[in-house]
Amino acid sequence: MAFISIENVGKTYNETELDSAVQVLIDISVEIEEGEFIALMGPSGSGKSTLLTTIGAMNRPSTGKILVDGIDVYGLSDERRADFRMEYLGFVFQQHHLMPYLTALENAMLPLATSRVPTREKRERAMAVLESVSLGNKASRLPNQLSGGEQGRLAIARALVNQPPLLLADEPTGTLDSKTGSEIMEVFIELNRRGQTIFMVTHNQDNADLADRVLQIRDGSLVGCCSSPRNRTNSAPVGCKSPNEVELAGIHRQDDQRVGSGDCVVNAG
Ligand SMILES: Nc1ncnc2c1ncn2[C@@H]1O[C@H](COP(=O)(O)OP(=O)(O)OP(=O)(O)O)[C@@H](O)[C@H]1O
Ligand SMILES: [Mg+2]
Repeated sequence: MAFISIENVGKTYNETELDSAVQVLIDISVEIEEGEFIALMGPSGSGKSTLLTTIGAMNRPSTGKILVDGIDVYGLSDERRADFRMEYLGFVFQQHHLMPYLTALENAMLPLATSRVPTREKRERAMAVLESVSLGNKASRLPNQLSGGEQGRLAIARALVNQPPLLLADEPTGTLDSKTGSEIMEVFIELNRRGQTIFMVTHNQDNADLADRVLQIRDGSLVGCCSSPRNRTNSAPVGCKSPNEVELAGIHRQDDQRVGSGDCVVNAG
């Protein structure tokens, strides 16, 4: 069984209000394996963040199911789902939401605030994740004493302190200049090399090309998924419903220059 299984997921906001109901996700099905690095691309308003927060146990789908590690995420009670989020998920958002009056170490410790782990161990774990993103020597700095890239890396460290099996990122490089964005992407690649499963929303084709697989969403429907140049194969990638999806993605890319250069055509073999 896939690590993440998204089964016929639909989402309509304001479902009960006929005038303002908005159908945002339509029958999304995709499987993601443990250790995969997935990029999700699509135009503004196409439903990327909605899909991410739905996977992130924060946004109940109107139809369908999400299974993570065999757990039916929305079959859990609210309390168990909160535990699930703590145990399984790390989040990185475009705005890092760092606490300005806490040091880097204290920021990284925040997700452990309610856990029963002794304070000393919390500090050790936070220090270890800071070191893993090369911020070990800046642990006592406040966020405003860090560069943009360092703040981004601190946000990633904080997301990882619970050792979550799945890292969810919504445009993590969105507001950063390209050099700082590359710094963040290097951290993601290194984490993924060590086995971290990552699901990242991005508008940036270069960043998407670093993932194992790129999903394309249009008007709430997945229109294609393909291997990125980093992971070219001639077969349909894991989780695609059929090789046709790959071709579809390729055609779409040719039609729409905003989303890439036709790598999927190569992958369709
Ligand atoms: N809580 C909400 N209530 C009603 N409509 C919403 C809500 N959240 C999002 N939407 C609508 O759902 C659609 C998809 O939004 P979403 O945030 O998922 O898009 P997105 O692909 O992430 O866009 P962007 O690239 O601009 O971040 C949009 O039309 C948005 O206005
Ligand atoms: Mg969004």
